Amino acid sequence: MVAKGWKVYNPSGKKRVVVTKELPGDRWLKILAQADARVEYGTETRILRAREIKAAIGNRCDGAIGQLTEDWGQALFAALRKAGGTAYSNYAVGYNNVDVDAATKRGIPVGNTPGVLTEATAEMAVALTFSAARRVPEADAYMRSGRYEGWLPALFLGELLARKTVGVIGAGRIGTAYAKMMVEGFKMDFIYYDIHRNRGLEKYFREYSKFLRDQGETPVKVTRATTVGEVLENADVVSLHPLLDETTHHLINAKRLRLMKKNAILVNAARGPVIDEAALVAHCKKNPEFKAGLDVFEGEPKMKPGLSSLKNVVIVPHIASATGWTRQGMATLAASNVAAILRGWPVSTDPLRIPEFLEGTAPNAAPSIVNAKQLGLPTLE
Ligand code: DGY
Repeated sequence: MVAKGWKVYNPSGKKRVVVTKELPGDRWLKILAQADARVEYGTETRILRAREIKAAIGNRCDGAIGQLTEDWGQALFAALRKAGGTAYSNYAVGYNNVDVDAATKRGIPVGNTPGVLTEATAEMAVALTFSAARRVPEADAYMRSGRYEGWLPALFLGELLARKTVGVIGAGRIGTAYAKMMVEGFKMDFIYYDIHRNRGLEKYFREYSKFLRDQGETPVKVTRATTVGEVLENADVVSLHPLLDETTHHLINAKRLRLMKKNAILVNAARGPVIDEAALVAHCKKNPEFKAGLDVFEGEPKMKPGLSSLKNVVIVPHIASATGWTRQGMATLAASNVAAILRGWPVSTDPLRIPEFLEGTAPNAAPSIVNAKQLGLPTLE
């Protein structure tokens, strides 16, 4: 028997894994079935409440895969542990919705899905950058409304980004991919802020600059800023790629928005609360030349009042990683995390091995467990 809103795969599996949403593709189901798991997955599109997830966990549950929209805190990890659960994976690279300490305290490994969504997310940040810069949604709505009467010299003037300055806050995997797309694609100067220096990226751009010089082209400049403000003051477009934690909550607030150029573009495909959204609404209202491209929102799925009526803001519903390949890859990684723990396999600690998990014969290991060290789990490498 399975409750309404849930489906079962491999009903005869001896272990029980609860997955709160149906995931794309079927490789993830096969991986869990190979670990002898009966998989129960939710088919509702709405966000499940903690009490509904608790009910799904029930009295016996060996592992779970949850969503970034769910609050995996003390209550759910206590329920999972009580039901005999020994494994959890988030279906996301970000895990700000997970209380990792609560899981660690109960000996539960927490998996995530890095590496597979880097390019997709960076591509969406690029798409938002240019949609905002060139006012694509506004122009699209104009065409559809039948108001176009012919080419005009000043119709939908936007911003030219080639050879200007791109800024990145948080130069990890996704910030780096975005920076390369913008610098190599549009020969922009680059300025970034990150508490960790990204020497590899700096070297990459120095060599790219040399290549440009050898081709007789103007080289690009690379700067590591010492403050967030320095990026905001100098860049024509700023893309945010930090992790969300207490140090990055409202990193972009009213005061910092005022540091930005009047016609700058702010892009966020990281996490909504990195921006004080109410302050952004006020700033965009006051500065019609300023633009923003947002994939994520402070109180998802809601937006702050006034945001959706601003013409200088492009908004999409947290779809930066939404390509079929990417979402299937995320499913493979989340399932591989849970299956590996259930099988007693070690944890891979080498991010370069992530592609090995996506097709063909995968290593006998969990691809990414964020609290592996705290739990003293054995490692593959
Ligand atoms: C993640 O995996 O953290 C992303 O936000 C999903 O798009």
